[in-house]
Amino acid sequence: MASSTLCLAILIPLIFFHNLHASSSFSLSVENFKEEVIVSSPKPTFTVGFYAVGKNAFCFAVWYTHSPDTLVWIANRDQPVNGKRSTLSLLKTGNLVLTDAGQFQVWSTNTATASEQVRLHLHDSGNLVLLEDSSDNAVLWQSFDFPTDTLLPDQPLQGSTNLVSSRSGSNYSSGFYRLFFDFENVLRLMYKGPRVSSVFWPYAWLQSNNFGNGNGNGRSIFNDSRVVVMDDLGYLVSSDNFTFKTSDYGMRLLRRLTLDHDGNVRFYSMKDGEDKWSVSGLFRQQPCFIHGICGPNSICSYEPRNGRKCSCSPGYRWFDSEDWSQGCIPSFQLWCNNTEQKSRFLSLPGVDFYGYDYGLFDNHTNRQCASLCSQLCECKGFQYKPVRGANGQCYLKTQLLNGHRAPSFTNSFFLRLPLLLHDYDESASNNGLVCGRNGGGIIELERPYVEEKENELVKFMLWFAISFGGIEVVCIFMVWCFLFRNNRMLPRQGYVLAAATGFRKFSYSELKHATKGFSEEIGRGGGGTVYKGFLSDDRVVAIKRLHEVANQGESEFLAEVSIIGRLNHMNLICMLGYCAEGKHRLLVYEYMENGSLAQNLSSASNVLDWSKRYNIALGTARGLAYLHEECLEWILHCDIKPQNILLDSDYKPKVGDFGLSKLLNRNNLNNSSFSRIRGTRGYMAPEWVFNLPITSKVDIYSYGIVVLEMITGRSPTTGAQITEIEAETPHHERLVTWVREKRMKGSENGSSWVDQIVDPALGTNYDMNEVEILATVALECVKEDREGRPNMSQVAERLQIHEHDS
Ligand SMILES: *[C@@H]1O[C@H](CO)[C@@H](O)[C@H](O)[C@H]1NC(C)=O
Ligand SMILES: *[C@@H]1O[C@H](CO)[C@@H](O)[C@H](O)[C@H]1NC(C)=O
Ligand SMILES: *[C@@H]1O[C@H](CO)[C@@H](O)[C@H](O)[C@H]1NC(C)=O
Ligand SMILES: *[C@@H]1O[C@H](CO)[C@@H](O)[C@H](O)[C@H]1NC(C)=O
Ligand SMILES: *[C@@H]1O[C@H](CO)[C@@H](O)[C@H](O)[C@H]1NC(C)=O
Repeated sequence: MASSTLCLAILIPLIFFHNLHASSSFSLSVENFKEEVIVSSPKPTFTVGFYAVGKNAFCFAVWYTHSPDTLVWIANRDQPVNGKRSTLSLLKTGNLVLTDAGQFQVWSTNTATASEQVRLHLHDSGNLVLLEDSSDNAVLWQSFDFPTDTLLPDQPLQGSTNLVSSRSGSNYSSGFYRLFFDFENVLRLMYKGPRVSSVFWPYAWLQSNNFGNGNGNGRSIFNDSRVVVMDDLGYLVSSDNFTFKTSDYGMRLLRRLTLDHDGNVRFYSMKDGEDKWSVSGLFRQQPCFIHGICGPNSICSYEPRNGRKCSCSPGYRWFDSEDWSQGCIPSFQLWCNNTEQKSRFLSLPGVDFYGYDYGLFDNHTNRQCASLCSQLCECKGFQYKPVRGANGQCYLKTQLLNGHRAPSFTNSFFLRLPLLLHDYDESASNNGLVCGRNGGGIIELERPYVEEKENELVKFMLWFAISFGGIEVVCIFMVWCFLFRNNRMLPRQGYVLAAATGFRKFSYSELKHATKGFSEEIGRGGGGTVYKGFLSDDRVVAIKRLHEVANQGESEFLAEVSIIGRLNHMNLICMLGYCAEGKHRLLVYEYMENGSLAQNLSSASNVLDWSKRYNIALGTARGLAYLHEECLEWILHCDIKPQNILLDSDYKPKVGDFGLSKLLNRNNLNNSSFSRIRGTRGYMAPEWVFNLPITSKVDIYSYGIVVLEMITGRSPTTGAQITEIEAETPHHERLVTWVREKRMKGSENGSSWVDQIVDPALGTNYDMNEVEILATVALECVKEDREGRPNMSQVAERLQIHEHDS
């Protein structure tokens, strides 16, 4: 029998002792069983023995012979035994006992039998069985009944048994995640941290049901047999009616299901005789929805290219930078200890912290929510959810747990911070907030996850970074983090690099070198000239050299620039750093592959089809709404025009050149002497001309003109002699008037005004309904009476109904 030869190494001594009818007991010492347990059988799939989990620390375990770091069962995961004088003994009572250093019993099977003959046997299946050596071979105990973090084919998880994850990739002791049947007979995944616990799979807000009608989580609560089992073809069936087929279902492979230390359940498979596992299925596609994954006060972001990434919320720092699951702690005193302290709120778009609501407040403006939160000492911030046609809802949070950044999540979280936050290192705590990465539309790559040795994993990721991400420091940073998390030998360089990916200061010579002496000009305006540059890490950047610089010192300049640098929205251009040296003032931005909207509109190749134009209008509205309303620094742009709307490789728009007013030699907005020089002819609201107070409505006017230009293909500035702003009929008014007239005539004689205004370059490839919505919104934006113009979030909301998938 193959299975009996499998366990030769352990059986020989057992049989030996039993054949001798050992009067007291037999025992195996750890010294003999360390790494020497090499089973030499025809099909040596599994090995049982003492596995070294640390220096002089051993666990009695079962592992794959060809993949010795893949433990499938561990007897004493939380209490490793000493490498000297520890023994595994089978007592004559039938109890199998593990003794540490010759004296402490750390584990036992707690079995007893009257039979004289007892055998320990490792099956081909990986099941370690204690048998009564009688005629019926009754099973006294088996490892399949006491799983650790892994289920093997045909090994049921049943009743009240849990799978418990490991603490980390290299630490096999009990971690924070459990797979179990709850009191409702439903198979669930739970995070059970040191302080809090919560169920996150299936979704807590989906009810179980018995109808399978798609409204609930599809689980049945009525079958109380509570058993889940995977067969050797890769099909998993649970008694609550949950089923799962692996992607390689049907093939006869080595298979296992493991609750990994990151809280995900993965199905692994491997060809017999090989030593590489590939993932053939997992329970949660989005690792950031796994609770507790980044610890308190931190934010998980999911990057299909790089996997999961944790970063501290602004104003917080790592509790233990080597263990992300411990989360972050505030760099400031909490409010309950210091009631004098005033707070401000920092907007984190797309961020959600799940659970721990103090309460839900309906019909509140953003300011009302902020004021509610400020009055409550435990309040750490609030989630704000705008409601159509009314004030929004706020969810006040007393704990910041399960934070994640989701591409699809359009609301913002408002983080409470002290008004004056001194000792907080912007670049260090922002290390995770990588610009532009919260945008949707990142294509998820299908790749089998290959679990290998650390170095190979690093090589693999590096290869990925180079072939897919272009040259991205972020990836390298991730690799460093991996190295650094998995290998304690490495120094703290990971975080030095991490900080470098955030906002930073550049030297003038560095930027001069990057731009090859300011040789490649790619744009002009907004008080400076923009050059293309290559940083030393090969990142392509746009470097703006300011011409008319305000007479201010470096610290004031930095104060302004860091506000801009902190803004993080997928529709705003990301500032990577600055340079302030002597009279030089430069800003470093991410480089946008497709240039500006202006270049694309005027290009003959006509690359902007209707859906691109529509999405550009929507994205721009979102970016401006964030600037105006959400970011709480309330920034007006004042110079919206197609030259300042930049397009990335997917033609997603990002607004550029915002927040420069204080950097340039221009005084505050109430000073009428300068108001006339702001903005660009053609896109300027009448307020500038009539010297009226300047509000966010000036941006909305300019936005309306840009949208009309995108719809009609007619520029408000070219085609005729340039008119002075004060002249009677500025050109853009002609564009507005022309569109208005078309609409009026259209509604009089019932003809389609949309067809008459739309850019002839589009041919017939547009959606009339969408053109009409966009044109109507644009016309509202360009009303002379600024009170009649909508605000930017209203625009975004009206447009997003028709958002095109890209
Ligand atoms: C593994 O994690 C546990 C729990 O955090 C800890 O007590 C133990 O020291 C760790 N073991 C190793 C080898 O790092
Ligand atoms: C179990 O799922 C099947 C389809 O997968 C469905 O037809 C059946 O009604 C479900 N049973 C229960 C008890 O929900
Ligand atoms: C309950 O689940 C078990 C295991 O999946 C299955 O064999 C049994 O038929 C189920 N019982 C009912 C009543 O559906
Ligand atoms: C703040 O107050 C809490 C209890 O309200 C206390 O546990 C904590 O130690 C205090 N922190 C400081 C820094 O005083
Ligand atoms: C919302 O609150 C305002 C006052 O703040 C009130 O006038 C209005 O009726 C409320 N709306 C709803 C739907 O409750």
